[in-house]
Amino acid sequence: SGTASQIASACASLTELHRALEAFEGLPLKQAATSTVFADGAAQPRLMCIGEAPGHEEDRQGVPFVGASGKLLDRMLASIGLDRSEVYITNILPWRPPANRKPTHDEVAVCLPFVVRHIELVDPPLLLLLGGAAASALLARAEGINRLRGHWFEVGSPGLQRPVPTLATFHPAYLLRTPEAKREAWRDLLLLSKKL
Ligand code: URA
Repeated sequence: SGTASQIASACASLTELHRALEAFEGLPLKQAATSTVFADGAAQPRLMCIGEAPGHEEDRQGVPFVGASGKLLDRMLASIGLDRSEVYITNILPWRPPANRKPTHDEVAVCLPFVVRHIELVDPPLLLLLGGAAASALLARAEGINRLRGHWFEVGSPGLQRPVPTLATFHPAYLLRTPEAKREAWRDLLLLSKKL
């Protein structure tokens, strides 16, 4: 056992991090979930995307962003010339919250050391944060997604050689419910594409 942060920092590879999450007993969420949804994507991606938490389809398949939100994410990436196979995709929470409720502040706090270690081990050239949960957690800012989206930030940590240029945008699930927000999201993607 140990704290999430001790466990996460001891992981020397993505395989070890995945195993550590499979073995982690610090969050009751995990008991209700079918899968520990770790990640999808290749080594040395052009971009790392971080969402909120698995939904029903992700929990069923054990892969992030494979349901309706994932289909839209694929199209968002394609709009800036990225194939999903060139991108590394994960979430703040590896376990689906019951009935897709929003993760609590405590759940996010417990998972954050694993996410930070995940970023260190992937060492991506760019980060895209999908929605308020990922944006507030990783940018450590109190503002909501409306304020955080569309501006470059840097995410740094002791295990990274250099901070990662980071952009936040609306979550695809939000865009499916709120199509009028797509105009801003596409502006964010254009900004992102300039650094690809
Ligand atoms: N929404 C997310 O934030 N992540 C997923 O993997 C699927 C839907």
